[in-house]
Amino acid sequence: MKKLSSLLFSATLLTSSSLVFATDAEQLEQGKMLFSSTAKPIACSVCHTLEDAGATGAIGPVLDELKPDADRIRKAMMDGMGAMPSFADSLEESEREAIIEYVVKVTQ
Ligand code: HEC
Repeated sequence: MKKLSSLLFSATLLTSSSLVFATDAEQLEQGKMLFSSTAKPIACSVCHTLEDAGATGAIGPVLDELKPDADRIRKAMMDGMGAMPSFADSLEESEREAIIEYVVKVTQ
């Protein structure tokens, strides 16, 4: 009986840690998709180069070189910057966070 409950316990641990992992992977996948094509009003890839996303935009800085941290990306998306529009009203916070997570992950 003791053995069974510890087995059950480790099974639960395994399941919950792989769930967290799946959610993380999903968020990165969502961030990549938004970056490449679905972000409104304009996808980031139109203006930025980011190798992982196959993006070759040349209007804004090359993100692979800039390696912006989360705060810097968040600020640019919230306030807009020069030719870059604000994404404060056109994206959900969770969508912006997915993009941030993705860009940081593939550039740092
Ligand atoms: C219409 C073109 C355009 C789009 C679309 C665009 N950007 Fe930009 N972005 C720019 C330009 C231009 C700059 C540089 C502005 C400046 O230096 O005045 C910039 C700057 C940045 C910076 C640097 C901020 C800093 O502090 O130097 C980051 C990070 C960034 N963009 C991320 C993104 C992300 C993420 C998206 C998509 C959600 C996006 N951009 C969409 C044109 C764009």
